[in-house]
Amino acid sequence: MSPSRAMSSLSVGFPSLGFVLLLGSACSRPEPAPAALTYHQDIAPLVDRYCAGCHKEGGIGHFALTSYAEVQRYSPLIKSAVSSGRMPPWLPAEDSRELHAKRAMRPNDKADLLAWIDEGMPEGSVDMPRSTDLPGVQMVAAPRPDLVLDPKQNYSPDSSRPDDYHCFVYDPKLLRDRFVVAGQVKPGNHHIVHHAIAYEIPEAEAPAILAKDPTGRGYTCFGSPGTTSLPVTIMGWAPGGVGMRFPQGTSLRLHKGSLVVVQVHYNMLEGMGHSDRTVMELELSDEVPQHELYSLPVARPKQLLIPAGAADAVQTIEFPLSLLASRFGLPANKLTVYGHTPHMHLLGTKIMTALNGETLINIPRWDFHWQQGYQFVSPYTATGTDTFKLECHYNNTAENQPVIGGVRQSPREVTWGEGTLDEMCLNYLLLSAE
Ligand code: HEC
Repeated sequence: MSPSRAMSSLSVGFPSLGFVLLLGSACSRPEPAPAALTYHQDIAPLVDRYCAGCHKEGGIGHFALTSYAEVQRYSPLIKSAVSSGRMPPWLPAEDSRELHAKRAMRPNDKADLLAWIDEGMPEGSVDMPRSTDLPGVQMVAAPRPDLVLDPKQNYSPDSSRPDDYHCFVYDPKLLRDRFVVAGQVKPGNHHIVHHAIAYEIPEAEAPAILAKDPTGRGYTCFGSPGTTSLPVTIMGWAPGGVGMRFPQGTSLRLHKGSLVVVQVHYNMLEGMGHSDRTVMELELSDEVPQHELYSLPVARPKQLLIPAGAADAVQTIEFPLSLLASRFGLPANKLTVYGHTPHMHLLGTKIMTALNGETLINIPRWDFHWQQGYQFVSPYTATGTDTFKLECHYNNTAENQPVIGGVRQSPREVTWGEGTLDEMCLNYLLLSAE
């Protein structure tokens, strides 16, 4: 409702006609037009805030959006990408629990950007003050590189098949327990690196792992790194991933004598003949944390079955949290959950997590290329009797098949597997347990 309409309807019933007329005449005076949005005052701050972190010289966004000319040149694409919600890339819907380092635009900022494009993109003057009411960027501070896991040479994946899982073995020579507080993965070659996960290998299993790697150049490791105990995840990366810094007072223990194995999944669908050197950096502390962290996977691999042609196949995994805790030998009187990392492959369309029916993360439009670990602004607590749910949806119709070498694949029954063309319904819980 416009202000003048509101006022005239309010005036109905006023006893004095003269007063009504007075009000009416005040309203009919033209409203001052809102100042037109201009690039230098309104749009540059907004594009800096929401886009330029990736769209800058040397950034991952392929082209820069740091000048009027660039923004103007890409405006048709920007309009399409922003109005459809593809950019800025941020998958969780608004009904998710509040998440740290959210990239989504505020609705009014999105409306301003689109309106400015529609209004012919006035440039304005560089001398005009910039609007400054934008929310601050929550950055994940890069880790201090205390432990650098670097293969020091390129690895050429086995390109005789679409997927290669290679495990690189590192001995951090820990003479005492140390604690991971932050980390990041620097994937060497975005065309082929589909994930990297660092696992802790306990001292007792170290000889068996070293035996798999006589050359020191790593070994093939589909699925798990090949330990007999359940593998312990330290940190991971998948396309779209960002660095991770654990919440204040929490960290993840690396035990004295442990090895670290970094498993890199190479996928050659986008091109053979590539090589890669993926590096992981971890910041370590000597301080025993208030709350020790565990990264626990939730999945039921054997029960995942996606029929060929199914438009909306669903796997729902629902269980009391005590089951997960006991599997990893942890108590479940109080579980504090700091983050989730949901994961599916190419057929996935939707993924959501919930506790006792209340949504935690809801990703209504899954995109394999934008995956990350999400941290909650405030962690949630649960006990063993609380019910956790993970729900994954897949579209396995002819229209949703991956294109390989220019050929769209035909639907086939898909089950759990490590290959990019297999599927997963998986979520890591980052938690502490008492
Ligand atoms: C986290 C990094 C990141 C941020 C933030 C980001 N982009 Fe992008 N953008 C990319 C990457 C990477 C690509 C190329 C791959 C792709 O399309 O996903 C891309 C592609 C695009 C494209 C071309 C492809 C398409 O989908 O139309 C446009 C246009 C675009 N971005 C506009 C924007 C705008 C406008 C913003 C801010 C409102 C923004 N981006 C924020 C990373 C980012």
